[in-house]
Amino acid sequence: RPDLPTYQLADVSKHNSKESGVWVTYGIGVYDITQFIPQHPGSDKIMLAAGGAIDPFWHTYQQHNTTEILTLLESFRIGNLNPLDDVGTKDLFDPWSNEPKRHPALQPRSERPFNAEPDTSLLIDSFLTPAEIFYVRNHLPVPDVEISDYELEIEDEVTGKNLTFKFEDIKNYEKHSITATIMCGGNRRSEMHNVKAVKGLSWGIAAVGNAVWSGPKLCEILKDLGIESDDKRHVHFEGLDEDPTSTKYSASITLAKAMDPRGDVILAYEMNGVPLSRDHGYPIRVVVPGVVGARNVKWLGRIIISTKESDSHWQQMDYKGFSPSTDWHNVDFLASPAIQNMPVTSAICSPTSKGTVKVVDGYVTVKGYAWSGGGNKIVRVDVTGDGGKSWQTAELEQESNDLSTVSIGRHWSWTLWTAKVPVVKGISDVEIWSKAVDSSYNVQPESFENTWNLRGMLSNAYSRVKVKLNW
Ligand code: HEM
Ligand code: MTE
Repeated sequence: RPDLPTYQLADVSKHNSKESGVWVTYGIGVYDITQFIPQHPGSDKIMLAAGGAIDPFWHTYQQHNTTEILTLLESFRIGNLNPLDDVGTKDLFDPWSNEPKRHPALQPRSERPFNAEPDTSLLIDSFLTPAEIFYVRNHLPVPDVEISDYELEIEDEVTGKNLTFKFEDIKNYEKHSITATIMCGGNRRSEMHNVKAVKGLSWGIAAVGNAVWSGPKLCEILKDLGIESDDKRHVHFEGLDEDPTSTKYSASITLAKAMDPRGDVILAYEMNGVPLSRDHGYPIRVVVPGVVGARNVKWLGRIIISTKESDSHWQQMDYKGFSPSTDWHNVDFLASPAIQNMPVTSAICSPTSKGTVKVVDGYVTVKGYAWSGGGNKIVRVDVTGDGGKSWQTAELEQESNDLSTVSIGRHWSWTLWTAKVPVVKGISDVEIWSKAVDSSYNVQPESFENTWNLRGMLSNAYSRVKVKLNW
C-alpha cells in the first residue's frame, strides 16, 4: 500500500490504550483497531498486542488466518511499518510442532488449533464413538505430557488448603465408568449460520460423541480434602494447554454439580477402556455429564474451589447465549450466564443431502441421534417427510444399564434413532425433519430464526435435510 504513510514502531507503540487509540502491526501493515476492540470475539486479549505486533499472538491463535479476518484487518489499515521494524515470526518456537497424528476420517474445521468432526454417516455406526473419530475441539496447541512428571493440583481458595496428586494417586481411587455424550456448544452452528452469519467454527452435526469414561468420581476426591457441597461455590478446571502469555484454558462448574454423587463428574483417564488419547486430554480430563463440552476440561492440571466462577475468556466471554437482536455493537457477555446444561437436540445423520436414498415399499429409512443435557432422557423423536402434516415416531436405541433405566436425571448418553418415513409415489425429492422430546417435555425449536445468536451457540432447531429419492 505505497499510497499510505510510513510509521516507525515508536509511533505505533504510543497507541497502546483505549484512551490513546489502539494501533497494531501485522507484517508491515499498520492498523488502527480502536473501533474494533469492543467487538472482538476473543475479548480483551486483543489488548495484549496494543501498540505492537499481532504476529506472535496469531502464531498461536492461527484461527485468525482466514480471508474473512484478514480482510477485516485490512479495513483498519492506516499505513506501512518501516520494514526494519517488522518483528516476523520465523525465529519463534513453533507451538504447533508437536501435534498428535489424526485419523483421516476426521474432517478439519480448522488445522491450528485442530478442530475436526467425523463424516455424519460414520457418527452413528456405533453406540460408542471410537476415540479416533470422536470430534476434536482444541483452542490451543496440544500439550505433551510425560506421565512421570504429571501433577494435578487441587486447591481450596477459601481455606488455602492445597494438595498435589501424581497420576498414580488418582488411579488409587475407586474407578467408576460412566457412559456420557460430550457435545460442543457450537455443534450444528453451520445451520444457524445459513440463516444469518455468526462468528465461530463452522461445525456440522458431528461435534458430538458418546463414550465410556473411567476414573474416580471428583466428589470422592474432594470429600477426602474435607470439602463440603455448598450452593455458592464453583470448581475451576485448568488445562495444561496455554497461550503465548502462559494463560491456560480454563472453565468452571458449580460445586453442587461436582459434589453430587448422582452428578457423575469423573476425572477420566480412560476412554472406551483404553488410556485417553492426546487429543482427548491425556492423561486426565474431567467429564461433566450433561454439561456443554467446554467445561469438560482436557489435560487437567489444576482444580480450584472458589467463591467465583472461572474468569477465563472461555467462561466469561464465550459459550453464552443471547437474544437474536443482540449484535457485536451491543453485546454484553458478562450479563449472560455461562452455558452449563445443554438443551434438547436431534440431528438426521442418514440420509444426507449429498446422495440419493432408496425408497422401499413407499418408505425411506431415516437415522440420527438425539440428546438432552442435564441428565434428561430422550422420550420421543418425531420425524416427518411432509412438512409436519404427519409425524412418524422413531424407534430408539438407548443405554440399558441400571443407571439410565432406574435413575431419573442421569441419562448422560445419547439416543440413536431410526424412523420409517412414507413418501408420495413418484416424487423426486423430499425434505425430512426431526425433533426430539426429552423427559421434561422440552422440544426443539422449529427454526433457527428465533434462536439465532451472534456466536452460533445452542443451535438446536429441528434438523432438516433435503434428499433425492431413488425409486
Ligand atoms: C477470536 C478477530 C486480534 C485473540 C477471534 C475471532 C475473530 C477475531 C473474528 C473469532 C474467530 C472464530 O471463533 O471463528 C481479530 C482481529 C484482530 C484480532 C480482526 C485484529 C487485531 C487478536 C489478538 C489476540 C486475539 C492480538 C491475542 C492476543 C483471540 C482469541 C480468540 C479470538 C483468544 C478466541 C479463539 C477461541 O475461540 O478459542 N478474533 N482478532 N485476537 N481472538 Fe482475535
Ligand atoms: N480443555 C482444554 N484444556 N482445552 C480446550 O481447548 N476444549 C473444550 C473441552 N475441553 C478444550 C478443553 C471444548 S470447547 C470442547 S467442546 C471439548 O473439550 C471437546 O472435547 P474433545 O476434543 O475430546 O471432543
